[in-house]
Amino acid sequence: MSFDANAHRDASLQAWEEAAAGWTRSGALIRSFSAPVSHWMLDAVAPQPGQRVLELAAGLGETGLLAAELVAPVGGVVISDQADAMLAGARERAAELGLANVEFQAINAEWIDLPVASVDIVLCRWGYMLMADPSAALGETRRVLRPGGRVALAVWDSIERNPWAAMPGLELRERRLATPPAPGTPGPFALAGAERLRELLERAGFSEIRVETIDLHRTHPDFDEFWQTTLDLSRAFHDAVLERPQPEIDEIRAGVRARLAPYEAPDGRLDIPARTLVAAASA
Ligand SMILES: C[S@@+](CC[C@H](N)C(=O)[O-])C[C@H]1O[C@@H](n2cnc3c(N)ncnc32)[C@H](O)[C@@H]1O
Repeated sequence: MSFDANAHRDASLQAWEEAAAGWTRSGALIRSFSAPVSHWMLDAVAPQPGQRVLELAAGLGETGLLAAELVAPVGGVVISDQADAMLAGARERAAELGLANVEFQAINAEWIDLPVASVDIVLCRWGYMLMADPSAALGETRRVLRPGGRVALAVWDSIERNPWAAMPGLELRERRLATPPAPGTPGPFALAGAERLRELLERAGFSEIRVETIDLHRTHPDFDEFWQTTLDLSRAFHDAVLERPQPEIDEIRAGVRARLAPYEAPDGRLDIPARTLVAAASA
């Protein structure tokens, strides 16, 4: 079946609007798990006081809110996402942190509604691989950057390096409750591979490209927390599982737990590896 980009865009927007409550609930866990990635991104682009930063596909805006502290008081950050409900979560977090130099804007990263050469830095953590046309989004990213401006981004490396996502997915697939995205279509692992990411950035006109990998750990005190967090963060998993009858949900849960046994300590703690690619480049 051919890929229908507009159908993907509509479905993605709806799914992420619905996922925002779960993301907000799991906000602290996301923050601690992904902090090394945000820190790599910020180190790579070194925001300076007075600069203007745009975060794309920001979700709860975690990386952009860290940047806001670095560019304050004169500089500012635009936290953007396609989903209004995600932006509502980001607004709450900015208020908790008492940040005054942050604006929020609903933006689809494939059509960035900002003038040419209007920002110094673009940040996008775990966003581009989910978009119908990541090349268009990178082209738009370069358009809004001033010459010499910097982008920093993260995308997941291959699914084999990310058992926290692979195992729940396998369980659903074996039960015929899910199918993997077709090759070349958007999904969490669609931009895996350092060379491919470098090429995409080159084709969008970026230079001084740096691509690295970061190994992360999804740690949980017990399987219950992993299960709840997975339901909170993945709308596809949430919907596929929760529409089943309770006895089947219990079986799926037990199946995922069995698949994660190699990462479970005798006291029940989980330590599951994850690997992301990170990249930085100049416009
Ligand atoms: C995996 S979450 C990542 C959120 C956040 N950047 C983080 O790292 O915690 C993906 C986010 O990308 C957003 N997104 C997906 N496609 C988008 C697009 N084309 N334009 C803008 N946002 C998009 C979703 O709404 C969602 O909030």
